[in-house]
Amino acid sequence: MQTLAQTLTSQAVKDSLAQLLLSLADTSKAISSAVRHGALAGVLGATEQENVQGETQKKLDVITNDMLKDALKAEGNVRGLASEEEDYVVEVSPQGEYLVCFDPLDGSSNIDINSLVGTIFSVLPAPEGELNEQSFLQAGRQQVAAGYVLYGPSTMMALTTGQGTQFYTLDPESGEFLLTNDNVQITPDTAEFAINMSNQRFWEAPMQTYIADLLLGKIGPREQSFNMRWIAAMVGDVHRVLCRGGIFTYPTDNKNPAKPFKLRLMYEANPMAFLVEQAGGKASTGYETIMDIQPSEIHQRVAVILGSRNEVDMCLSYHGEDYSQEPNID
Ligand code: AHG
Ligand code: MN
Ligand code: MN
Repeated sequence: MQTLAQTLTSQAVKDSLAQLLLSLADTSKAISSAVRHGALAGVLGATEQENVQGETQKKLDVITNDMLKDALKAEGNVRGLASEEEDYVVEVSPQGEYLVCFDPLDGSSNIDINSLVGTIFSVLPAPEGELNEQSFLQAGRQQVAAGYVLYGPSTMMALTTGQGTQFYTLDPESGEFLLTNDNVQITPDTAEFAINMSNQRFWEAPMQTYIADLLLGKIGPREQSFNMRWIAAMVGDVHRVLCRGGIFTYPTDNKNPAKPFKLRLMYEANPMAFLVEQAGGKASTGYETIMDIQPSEIHQRVAVILGSRNEVDMCLSYHGEDYSQEPNID
């Protein structure tokens, strides 16, 4: 089996980018070890701090953020970084060619229940000149690489450099990420959806109707049964979609009108959209293709609908401009 380094060489990925990706892979091995030691390493539980988005930080959010920051600082190819757990962008190496955006630990609410968590990253080209927040405000379409590492029963990395999506599995014996799927393909059709149903009453009408129709199964307009799965870590839900198809959505809701979206464009939606598109799937907000959004600020949040191409199209048809149906539920 090919190692990650060998695959990047066979893809003719530029040396500077390959080095950066290998450094992210190395850091994820250390994170995997910290996650695996759990309570033995005293890494579980919350801190007393909040991040810029007002969320209480878990100890592992802070530890993994520091691990990635230190590794990227030691890596000569990174001009700057932006993280879900950092208030502001961080300047790294003046000569660096790349910007890295990351969610150091996705699925924080799963940490203390020994369930799935992961690290999500996105690599953008660094523009010339002074580094500031503006440097990062590039559409997802500009990404040169994106991926995640899932700390599950096995530690796996999904990666794209724009040449399809690949899966690597961490071999615990050799400590190498080995290529275990060289061309991930999302099935175009699916009978599985992922959404936090507890927010149902807060969704917009199109999403209310779409999900209601899925729930009606064979007696509804779709004339087939749908199954539901929800891991509560985007990284786990997207991994399932890449493995066996599905539609994953965290839609707009009006639970808190000041915060209509949950997922973050630069750290979650864009890298996942790149992986999904490269695997033949689609990623949209309902009204706009995720990777075409011009970001207005680094911590921006967006609605996300992604996965199996035909099912995402079906969901988008409920959001069409000629949408006139009333929701068929109370
Ligand atoms: P994070 O742990 O990085 O804050 O992200 C959690 C996100 C995402 O991974 C997941 O899909 C969603 O929050 C789940 O949230 P709820 O269970 O609160 O709906
Ligand atoms: Mn997250
Ligand atoms: Mn996080």
